[in-house]
Amino acid sequence: MLCLGIETSCDDTSLALVEDSVLLGQESVSQAGMHALFGGVVPELASREHVRFIGPLCDRLLRRACVAAGDIDLVCPARGPGLLGSLLVGISFAKAFALGSGARFLGVNHLHAHIFAAGLERELPLPALALLVSGGHSMLYRAEAPDNFALLGKSIDDAAGEAFDKAGKMLGLPYPAGSAMDALAEEGCASPRLFPRPYSDNESLDFSFSGLKTAMWLYISEHPECRVSFDAASGEAVIPQGEKRAAMADVCASYRLAVVDSLCVKVERAIERGGAAGARSLILAGGVAANSLLQRRMGDIADRAGLPLCVPSLKLCADNGAMIAYLGVLLAGAGYVHNLDMEAVPRGKPIPDDMIRVSTPPG
Ligand code: KG4
Ligand code: ZN
Repeated sequence: MLCLGIETSCDDTSLALVEDSVLLGQESVSQAGMHALFGGVVPELASREHVRFIGPLCDRLLRRACVAAGDIDLVCPARGPGLLGSLLVGISFAKAFALGSGARFLGVNHLHAHIFAAGLERELPLPALALLVSGGHSMLYRAEAPDNFALLGKSIDDAAGEAFDKAGKMLGLPYPAGSAMDALAEEGCASPRLFPRPYSDNESLDFSFSGLKTAMWLYISEHPECRVSFDAASGEAVIPQGEKRAAMADVCASYRLAVVDSLCVKVERAIERGGAAGARSLILAGGVAANSLLQRRMGDIADRAGLPLCVPSLKLCADNGAMIAYLGVLLAGAGYVHNLDMEAVPRGKPIPDDMIRVSTPPG
């Protein structure tokens, strides 16, 4: 089954072709540089950029993979959660493509797609306990099958990636700051008591990061030397050297430790409570899955639980069309489709269980 996957839920325009479980090609444009000028994603600009890029990316993808529109069996856009205007660009494009080419149409849950992304690179033993951490979401799921997820916990305020991005902004780092903070943290020495572990001392499996952000704000107010300098000519952030750099690295290391502790305590609690009973793997997914300390700590948890840890490679951690296409293939293989009146689901709204089951899978 040949599937065109389309990801436009936030600030990445990414289209991919997946045949069964093989990634044939992917074409992506990240808008991060443009949104960095504003310190975060500007929804209206994001939609306009998707409109600008989606057609040319699709042409290039098909040309490079030597695939004609009529060869495609299935078209899958991310249907949500995400920015409404951005989702609508990808969904409208996918509907028009399906109408024109005769391919089947199926909208895919962006969060579930993140969790199955590693399946493009390795076997993904199910059921799995899955931690999904990105710029917009922090969720803990038990994944039974491509169409069967139980939500065990979620962030009650900011997402883990947002906690990095906002703290990075306070330090003067460009958006998105997660990877730069991670790199600096690798050089630094973490003080376990510098920042709190919000919402840990309770029975819940939910996460909270807004208090941590406030703690960072208070710390930087008292230690302005931890902030980056700016080049007078270009106005660009310059990470300092010497003692100042060491101070900044220590703050990043302490902050990263607090975020990772806050995530791992809930994963361990879920395992203690039987959330991993009968599970055959532990999955770490989403942009923050690239965090080196989080990968090490989740590796330790997986070892103790006797489970393999499945983490997608960097290009499949961030938002991408391949993960959308791959989950689409799995769901369509189980006989699911959507009608062309399927609607986009913005962030904060539940995704309806409105897939239709047909008797013959496409392809
Ligand atoms: O999944 P993703 O590409 O987009 C969303 O759906 O949000 O995740 C992007 C997020 C950003 O918040 C970015 O700062 C964070 O992932 N991120 C990291 C690292 N690399 C990316 N956070 C911590 N450590 C990293 N190495
Ligand atoms: Zn995402």
